[in-house]
Amino acid sequence: MPVCLITGASSGIGEALAREYARRGWAVGLIARRKPVLDGLVQELRSKGAKAAAAAADVTDRAALEEAVQLLEGELGTCDLMIANAGGDPGIGKRLEPEAIISTMNLNYNGVVYAMGAVLPRMQARKQGSIAVVSSIAHMRGIPRFGAYGASKAAVSSLCEALRPELAAWGIRLHTINPGFVRTPLTAANKSPMPFLLDADEAARRIANAIEVGKAIYTFPFPTRMAMAFATLLPAFLWDRLMGRGFKAK
Ligand SMILES: NC(=O)c1ccc[n+]([C@@H]2O[C@H](COP(=O)([O-])OP(=O)(O)OC[C@H]3O[C@@H](n4cnc5c(N)ncnc54)[C@H](OP(=O)(O)O)[C@@H]3O)[C@@H](O)[C@H]2O)c1
Repeated sequence: MPVCLITGASSGIGEALAREYARRGWAVGLIARRKPVLDGLVQELRSKGAKAAAAAADVTDRAALEEAVQLLEGELGTCDLMIANAGGDPGIGKRLEPEAIISTMNLNYNGVVYAMGAVLPRMQARKQGSIAVVSSIAHMRGIPRFGAYGASKAAVSSLCEALRPELAAWGIRLHTINPGFVRTPLTAANKSPMPFLLDADEAARRIANAIEVGKAIYTFPFPTRMAMAFATLLPAFLWDRLMGRGFKAK
């Protein structure tokens, strides 16, 4: 039975991915900070006949994350697929403060780097394995109010772009996943319009399909992808005028 480890499995996309992979016959190892929530999900998956286990870790704590991965591999077997999904926008609302920007980078960038590092040595030794990194469509162009978030996702996407051919030489696949808007606790507080919003279950199904067919970069849904591709073509003066409305120095 193949083994999938998922960070950020206690809610939203990660939780939906855990159900999706369990349904597809994988053993699933769940990682997040809220252990009681993970335990509840493990019970649910086991009651449906799946093999599942959970370990608590903060992904920004490298040692804790490595310990969690070790524990889950001991229980489920060596990881075949790591989905580095944990992330968010911890600096939201304090966007001009360096600490807020750095904490977002720590979660969305360092957290992914530590998740990769926790499984790579055994994947390299076996010359096989897959890593899927959940970035965001927001990495494609800087968006006011979401600067720290977008920058952290741009960093992660750029890293994956560079590592993909290197890891391929070891027989390891690297997938970059760029979701558009997905209905989760992360977007629940968002007051702005969220066109083409997907349910987390649908997003998880599409992500698992993309990984299964070996997509290197999966950006979805299609209309949001097209809109962002168009946005990247706009000159800076036009982008600034469109995005800068409503900002006041205060
Ligand atoms: N929803 C969207 O529209 C959307 C769009 C594009 C990309 N994404 C990306 O998709 C991923 C999942 O987001 P989501 O929308 O599903 O958000 P969510 O419902 O808020 O879930 C975030 C998950 O990450 C975990 N997490 C947060 N900080 C952590 C930390 N320091 N250590 C360990 N786990 C941590 C949370 O668990 P605990 O609190 O229990 O630790 C939770 O399980 C993120 O990388 C996000 O940037 C989301």
